[in-house]
Amino acid sequence: MAELTVDIAGLRLQNPFILASGIWGETGATLARALRAGAGAVVTKSIGTEPRPGYPNPTIVEVPAGFINAMGLPNPGIEAYKEEIEEALQPGKPVIGSIFGADEREFVKLARKMESYGVSALELNLSCPHAKGYGAQLGQDPGITKKITAAVKAAVKIPVFVKLTPNVASIAAIGKAAESGGADAVVAINTLKGMAIDLELGRPVLSHGSGGYSGPGIRPVGIACVYDLFEAVKIPIIGMGGISSGDDAAEYLLAGAAALQVGSVVYKKRDRTFTHLSRELSRFLSSHHYKSARSMTGKAHGGP
Ligand code: DHB
Repeated sequence: MAELTVDIAGLRLQNPFILASGIWGETGATLARALRAGAGAVVTKSIGTEPRPGYPNPTIVEVPAGFINAMGLPNPGIEAYKEEIEEALQPGKPVIGSIFGADEREFVKLARKMESYGVSALELNLSCPHAKGYGAQLGQDPGITKKITAAVKAAVKIPVFVKLTPNVASIAAIGKAAESGGADAVVAINTLKGMAIDLELGRPVLSHGSGGYSGPGIRPVGIACVYDLFEAVKIPIIGMGGISSGDDAAEYLLAGAAALQVGSVVYKKRDRTFTHLSRELSRFLSSHHYKSARSMTGKAHGGP
């Protein structure tokens, strides 16, 4: 059996497949369920300083090759989230705490709290494509990305991952800014800004209007971003965007990813997601004579 274990910024994962933020992440019970179903690690829903109800429905629509969603960063707030983390930690595997804030002061407060709850690493949401004053509105600016990353790094001991938006001219420039702020890894890509119009109503389908496009349709964008980042930064890259098979996973590893996240595929494969992907990647490694998932990282780069 080919070796699926990967190490990312000191975290050991049994397999490279991490449950992405926002997927089953609002409760500890569902995060624990993903870990028991074979996820290498899980990322929580992005948590802020105060409870947020999110946007009214509809918040998600299926489109060709994926989904568009605009949930509005619904979450119970950092104080209430402690008990969810406790439950998520039960299976004994890495839990990564995703946080979003309006500035470095909020990020630092959230980071310290999350660390005190016992998570293995933090993921900074600098990439939500539509929440005013949060996410990509901060992460599209390299100076702000560096400042927030550096402030969080100075405040905690656990590894800090920065999740990047593809909705920029150069994701490599933003990746470099995160790296220079001390990030231990970058996560690429968050969703692409997208919209669907209801032809009968003559209005956008989602209550918010635009949302984040995810699923198989964005995979070529994600691959190009990971490929560019691999040439630009030395820190590990966690690749994501439209992974739904072992072949997709292999493509991201070859482009430069050291670990992977999955989101939209969970809606189709449910609890079978992680065993399915691990089995398929394992078969790919054997049939293509790779000894390990680790040994594939970045192999699409360089000479002939
Ligand atoms: C939401 C947040 C995201 O980071 C994203 O990519 C899509 C949606 C949200 O909560 O609305």
